[in-house]
Parts: sequence; structure tokens; C-alpha cells
Amino acid sequence: MGSLPIAGAGLSSQPMGIRIGVSALIVVLYIGLLASVTHMVSHFENRDELPGFTFDDVTGAYHGIDSPGLLGTALERGHPETLPSAQKELLLQWLTSGRIVEDYDSLDLEIPPAEIIDQSCIECHTRAAGAETGSAIPPLEYFDDIKEIAFSRKVLPTPVAVLAASTHAHALALSIQGLVVIALASMTRWRRGSISLLIAIMGLGLVGDVGGWWLARFSPSWTVCIMVSGAGYSLAQGILLASVLADLWWPRGSTSDSR
Ligand code: HEC
Repeated sequence: MGSLPIAGAGLSSQPMGIRIGVSALIVVLYIGLLASVTHMVSHFENRDELPGFTFDDVTGAYHGIDSPGLLGTALERGHPETLPSAQKELLLQWLTSGRIVEDYDSLDLEIPPAEIIDQSCIECHTRAAGAETGSAIPPLEYFDDIKEIAFSRKVLPTPVAVLAASTHAHALALSIQGLVVIALASMTRWRRGSISLLIAIMGLGLVGDVGGWWLARFSPSWTVCIMVSGAGYSLAQGILLASVLADLWWPRGSTSDSR
């Protein structure tokens, strides 16, 4: 063991063919990394049944989501205070009946939910009011508005068998990919100290990412770990690959890092 090993001889002295080939493969790896990001966004974006790629999408995929709709939450916590409790009960029953669309203005009910909302909510819940106050008030003018917050969200996590298949493919491929990048980076002229932190981030990132997929089943807080670790793995790898490219094409002698 002893002293810190010195940097490799560098790749810029390799024959042109090797430098071209390695560079081309690194470009493909970059394309792959970009494609992963795009794929991840489009694959997960609708997991939480809402548009856009958010935190909840990742939580939905790895932990599942079971949250009542905004409408039910507001009613349950006693909003608005002016609503008679009999009508509140009617609305809550309607929301949990599984017939939100069918019964919205059904005359079979004692009072149709549409009518309660019309009488007790609309005065405050218009688009105009929302715009005035900076949109903290969701509009309830149309059924489309109401539908948006009426349904409870229940998102089932990816089934264990699918997660196992995904882990099998990703864990084997990404770890080998990381090891190859480390091998390449180790051959560069750059000082060990300057690449060692990146290598640590890349390795820990992959452990945190793949480990997080499984731990998130127990607690949704692991979603943070998945996202931070995944970003760490990809970013550190991207920088290491850039350092390999730089070493391949940056003429020797133009840097004090030699040896
Ligand atoms: C007197 C005015 C007023 C009335 C009447 C009113 N609301 Fe609201 N509502 C507000 C305001 C202001 C907010 C935003 C601040 C807050 O969350 O309390 C709000 C927020 C909400 C929210 C969003 C809650 C959240 O956590 O962001 C829902 C859902 C809601 N109201 C539903 C209703 C329903 C259903 C009715 C009728 C049964 C109703 N409101 C009647 C003023 C009103």
C-alpha cells in the first residue's frame, strides 16, 4: 500500500484508433444517460395520476400513494365552517361512494352534491377569487374543476416481481458500467485525489438508488434517497467520462497534473 498511487500514464499517448473508438463509445454512453433521463420522466410522469414529473411520481412507483382527494380533506377538517353538518356528511358520502361522476347531480339523492356546492361554495370558489388571492382557492365552478380534486388518489407501487426484474437488469448493468468508467478514469493522467471523490459519489449513488427502490416500499421518505442518489450516480459518471475525454484529446505536457 504505502503512498497514494500516482496517476496513470494518460490516454492521450494511445494510438489514434484507440482514442477514436473509446471516445465514440463514451459519446454513446452519454446518449444512453440522456435517454435514461427522458425515459424516466415519461415512464413515471403519470404515476401519481397528475400531469408533470414530480416527487409523488417516484413515491407512487416505489411506495404507492393513498391520499384522499383535496375536496374530502378540506371537508373533513371542517372547511367551510358555514356548511351544515348534514350537508357535509352528504358530500363525504358522495365522495366515498365510488359514484362521483354518476351522482354529481343525481336527483335520487336527498340533495344533489352539485346543488350543495352551488349554494355553499361557489361564492368564494370562482376563478376570479382564485386569481385575486393568488390561486390558493381552487375553483369549483364546473364539474371539471370538482373532478380534479374529488377523487382520492390510490397509486399501487410497482409489483415486487417487476421491481425484481428491473433490479436484476439495472443492478448488473449499471454496476459494470460504473466499474468500466472507474477503470478508464484510472488510466487518465489526472491525480487520484481529484477523481476519487467522484468515484465515491458514483458508487454510493448507485447503492442508494437501487437500495432505495426496495427501502421505499417500507417508507416513502426513501424517495429522497432514490432521487438524490440517482442524480449523484449519473452526474458523477458524466463528469468522470468528461475527464476521460479530456485526457484522450488534451495534448500532454499542457498540464501540471502529469505523473
Ligand atoms: C367564505 C368563503 C369560502 C366558502 C364559502 C368555501 N370556501 Fe373553500 N376555501 C376558501 C379559502 C379562502 C380557501 C383557501 C385557504 C384555505 O385553505 O382555507 C379555501 C380552500 C378550499 C379548498 C382547498 C383546501 C386546501 O387544503 O388547499 C377546498 C377543497 C375547498 N376550499 C372546498 C370548499 C367547498 C367544498 C366548499 C363548499 C362546501 C367551500 N370550500 C366553501 C374559502 C371558502
